[in-house]
Amino acid sequence: MITLHNKTALVTGASRGIGRATALALAEAGAHVLVHYGRSAQEAQSLVAAIQSKGGRADAISVDLATPNGAALLAEKVRSIVGDRLDILVSNAGVSKSARIADHTVEDFDNLFATNVRSPFFLVQQLLPILGEGSNIIMITSVVAHAVIGKPGIENPSVLAYASTKGALETLVRNWAAILGPNGIRVNAVAPGVIDTDMSNFTKTEAGRETALEMQALKRLGKPEDVADVVAFLASDKARWITGASIPVDGGSKL
Ligand SMILES: NC(=O)c1ccc[n+]([C@@H]2O[C@H](COP(=O)([O-])OP(=O)(O)OC[C@H]3O[C@@H](n4cnc5c(N)ncnc54)[C@H](OP(=O)(O)O)[C@@H]3O)[C@@H](O)[C@H]2O)c1
Repeated sequence: MITLHNKTALVTGASRGIGRATALALAEAGAHVLVHYGRSAQEAQSLVAAIQSKGGRADAISVDLATPNGAALLAEKVRSIVGDRLDILVSNAGVSKSARIADHTVEDFDNLFATNVRSPFFLVQQLLPILGEGSNIIMITSVVAHAVIGKPGIENPSVLAYASTKGALETLVRNWAAILGPNGIRVNAVAPGVIDTDMSNFTKTEAGRETALEMQALKRLGKPEDVADVVAFLASDKARWITGASIPVDGGSKL
């Protein structure tokens, strides 16, 4: 059984989807969870209340991670709650964009990289003073860091800019793992396939659902809990010898 008693954890983007399920899983394993959110205050507060009603510990923190000082601000708020020790950082907040090559704008590109790459980069930098021997970091990346999904074609929409943010994150994971390993800090990626959340709204149509199922060995849509359980395992001491890895959680996509 996984136990995270006496551990502190920050989950970014925990108001909805994968982050929400992850925060719940970590809290159920006994961690004190900081539920970070951007705009969805009500959802974040209801999650905190749900965790507390089961006897768990949770606090909500709001910061816009697309802003240049978002990561520093979040780290400051985290330190004001947990003090000098953070055991688990799950960097999950992210945005995506599907469009034809011609329809990607500079604003879209900058927002994707600011939210998905710059903010985790500086969040790790700013939280380093309170990460130590036995702490671990998990980045939520994506199957699209490894494989092209959808129907390729100049006139077809694709997630190529989003995919490149996830590729950048996976490169960072290997670098962080090498750099922080001597300090006893593990760093891993979890790369989900298509998961049924607000972000994957294309699966709400029959055609979109079929596209997702076609590329998977297991024939159902992934659920946020499918990812959360793997994150909880990686965050625990059961995964003590795993670092620098990217774990696919995708029902066997694009095999
Ligand atoms: N769903 C999938 O199929 C899938 C597949 C592979 C990887 N992923 C990755 O998994 C992660 C979670 O995805 P999801 O599907 O759960 O997404 P989601 O349901 O759209 O939730 C996204 C979360 O990120 C937060 N967020 C977004 N932009 C933010 C910003 N600027 N500042 C602060 N918070 C921000 C949102 O907070 P607020 O609502 O509070 O603003 C929300 O909690 C993402 O990194 C995504 O790329 C998802």
